[in-house]
Amino acid sequence: MKIAIPKERRQYEKRVAATPDTVKKLISLGFSVTVEKDAGRQSQILDSQYIDAGATIAADANSTYASADIIFKVQRPLMDGEGEIDELSMIKEGAMLIAVLDPIKNPDHVKAYADRNISAFAMEFMPRITRAQSMDVLSSQSNLAGFKAVIDAAHEYGRAFPMMMTAAGTVAPAKIMIMGVGVAGLQAIATAKRLGAVVSATDVRSAAKEQVESLGGKFIMVETDEEGETEAGYAKEMSDEFKKRQAELIAETIKKQDIAITTALIPGRPAPILITDEMVASMKSGSVIVDLAVEAGGNCTLSKPGEIFVSDNGVIIVGHLNVPSRLATDASALYSKNLLNFISPHVDEESKQLNMDWEDETVTGILLTKDKQIVHERLTGGN
Ligand code: NAI
Repeated sequence: MKIAIPKERRQYEKRVAATPDTVKKLISLGFSVTVEKDAGRQSQILDSQYIDAGATIAADANSTYASADIIFKVQRPLMDGEGEIDELSMIKEGAMLIAVLDPIKNPDHVKAYADRNISAFAMEFMPRITRAQSMDVLSSQSNLAGFKAVIDAAHEYGRAFPMMMTAAGTVAPAKIMIMGVGVAGLQAIATAKRLGAVVSATDVRSAAKEQVESLGGKFIMVETDEEGETEAGYAKEMSDEFKKRQAELIAETIKKQDIAITTALIPGRPAPILITDEMVASMKSGSVIVDLAVEAGGNCTLSKPGEIFVSDNGVIIVGHLNVPSRLATDASALYSKNLLNFISPHVDEESKQLNMDWEDETVTGILLTKDKQIVHERLTGGN
């Protein structure tokens, strides 16, 4: 079985779907691995390191995809008209494509996978069961994004984070508020604390309180009986009454903050608006907002995808896209491990043959297309 690792070609994407470490492990499982020339370059991995790990380097996309049984990618392949080449047409019929496929927003791609008889797996749909934690790409990448958001905030902020008492005067500690305390938010709290900031945080899930406090942050939340968490552990859209009270709470808190980092997402819905124009107007000049939800519409009304925008009153609003890719070396390493951990249990140790267990929850949870059909219930209307 041949695994192909193409170079990523989408804008803002610096990651790669295998590292020399995972290549070595894939080869020991019985696969052969072909890596496209310069695929690891933007993650600081040289072709020679892949060769040392046992991979073959292919000169271009065509020869990378040719005859591959499995394709490991970070983002979905380019389709006709999307970029310099049509990667999808290079995938052989019957192959497996394993990547972050963003299928809800790209139904035309999903249809194309089915038409070409590709078994497409969307890693971001991985069920959050204990056994699949090591395959959870949302967690592995959000964790890094949470760290980088604080570093990006520090970069834009014209002042220091920790309190410093010097002969020339005292530097006050930065006050940071984190909105949305899932995986990214928790790492943002931990990072901001390490840098010496005073940290507060809010979420709609009351379960987050204990986690925030265990990291030394102060938890602020609307007092309510309304449950903000679904059975799957995710946030849900809250009532208008809750939103109104939450807006009042944030308005009151945010004007005293130096930095706000927003990470709030609701699966399948646009990101909730948490910081309005008026709230930005109430903040001090030089304050920084980092909006990690910008790709889902943004938590701040003034954030602009891919831009650093300065409001009339001098608030710096950071809307970097694909934040995990800004830490491409670590992001690639963890993402590649997620893919390796997904495929490994399906390889027969004795015969070294791939023997997919199509009934396994980690497979049924993420499989979009098989045998020319769209099979995932979120795409067929089953859920
Ligand atoms: P996410 O990326 O979907 O959302 C980020 C955060 O925003 C969440 O904490 C959410 O509650 C919060 N949020 C949504 N709407 C909000 C609003 N209006 N105001 C304030 N906050 C709002 O979340 P993520 O990081 O995927 O985590 C979701 C849950 O899954 C968490 O409980 C997390 O601990 C859990 N989880 C479980 C895993 C496992 O068991 N394998 C792995 C990773 C996460």
